[in-house]
Amino acid sequence: HDAFMPYLRRINTTATKTYASRTFLFLKKDGTLKPLAIELSLPHPDGDQYGAVSKAYTPAEEGAESTIWQLAKAYAAVNDSGYHQLISHWLNTHAVIEPFVIATNRQLSALHPIYKLLQPHFRDTMNINAFGRQALINAEGILEMTVFPAKFAMEMSSVVYKHNWVLTEQGLPADLIK
Ligand SMILES: [Fe+2]
Repeated sequence: HDAFMPYLRRINTTATKTYASRTFLFLKKDGTLKPLAIELSLPHPDGDQYGAVSKAYTPAEEGAESTIWQLAKAYAAVNDSGYHQLISHWLNTHAVIEPFVIATNRQLSALHPIYKLLQPHFRDTMNINAFGRQALINAEGILEMTVFPAKFAMEMSSVVYKHNWVLTEQGLPADLIK
């Protein structure tokens, strides 16, 4: 929700029309998650100083309400997959680790125990990222074609990095508490 909200106005001027979503999930005894409510938000037509225009939807099994609930779940799933691919996957794994790969190779001896610990995790990262820059995250590449923030995707992920990625929040338990 928070990552997409500042971009919705621009995204919705393109052929893509979407919302920012928040979902309440109930953890059932069998370990599965049941959605209890989905909030869909749009920017206020009179300006961001008026907050978002939001509406909450709840499960329904019959009539028009059940179709609306299916649509609300689809919008939530689109938000989730967009956030996953752009932020959780590209940004928070592939992109943020590059400075650590470079620093490790430049500053640590190949005999250093920390180097030995990190090297298996870093082994293919720079190659994969270089390939990704050519085919996945490039302008009009696969990511812009398949993830809804489209041409705003890379700008959005860089804004999230600038404002939300903090080294000391990345470890446990700080990450879970956040
Ligand atoms: Fe990956």
